[in-house]
Amino acid sequence: MRKVLIAPSSFGQADREPVAILERAGFKVIPNPYGRKLTKDELGALLPGVIGIISGLEPLTRDILERSELKVISRCGVGLSNVDLDAAQDLGIRVCYTPDAPTKAVAELTMGAMFALLRRLMLMNQALHEGRWVKEMGWQLEGKTVLIIGFGRIGREVARLLAPFGVKLLAADPFCSGIVDGVAVMNLDEALPHADIISFHASGDGELLGVKELALIKPGVIILNAARGGLINESALCEALDQGRVSGAWLDTFLQEPYQGPLLRYPQALLTPHAGSYTFECRRRMEKEASDNLVAALT
Ligand code: DGY
Repeated sequence: MRKVLIAPSSFGQADREPVAILERAGFKVIPNPYGRKLTKDELGALLPGVIGIISGLEPLTRDILERSELKVISRCGVGLSNVDLDAAQDLGIRVCYTPDAPTKAVAELTMGAMFALLRRLMLMNQALHEGRWVKEMGWQLEGKTVLIIGFGRIGREVARLLAPFGVKLLAADPFCSGIVDGVAVMNLDEALPHADIISFHASGDGELLGVKELALIKPGVIILNAARGGLINESALCEALDQGRVSGAWLDTFLQEPYQGPLLRYPQALLTPHAGSYTFECRRRMEKEASDNLVAALT
């Protein structure tokens, strides 16, 4: 029987149908036995005999792909930063993904995190849980300039959700220019000094906000990252938080996940475990699409 591996540990939890799709297509389904993101070694050990993988965020590097018999990688999600696409192409491994499924869930969580940071909800929540009645003065969204870095599906949905709040929207994205959906797309260095809030929705994980860029920001800026951890230089961000040049940050993605790094010490950092797409609606859709893609590519 032809074997397929389901790498995301939560696959099938929101709805079993995506697993049933694979079984009905006649595949022997190997689940992730660890209940968490697979390490490279664990992935390597599970892959022999496997022709297709539903992939999460585990490292599908060239050496792993070369040693495998994979014909198809069906990414359950939009980001492909964990897949060596050149290696997949060289080896004739087909790669598919679910580009539209996570848009709403990630954009909505970004809005939630933005309000949480503006109103300093995590500080008041923490204090009250510790028995202290402490009010933190926050800021309103209205009138702020929001810079969206990466103006693809999710970035544009965040802009759409923000539009009724009376904000000024700017975007930075090397793949577009001019006015897109009514938003001025600018060069990043040009846009940074104007922003009160910076929200990352870029693809890839190359650094975009490092020491040089943080020197350009407005004091007290709020930073949100729902995209990939590598986009922001973590030690430069910690230094900017120490100095109050960044007043708050929401990080949902990290270079090393699960995250154990220095941001854990910052109460003004709102940290979530790469949960942007983690809604029942999104998981159902994304997983079904990933299974359909895998079956279509293998049959
Ligand atoms: C994505 O879709 O890439 C999200 O980061 C979750 O995997």
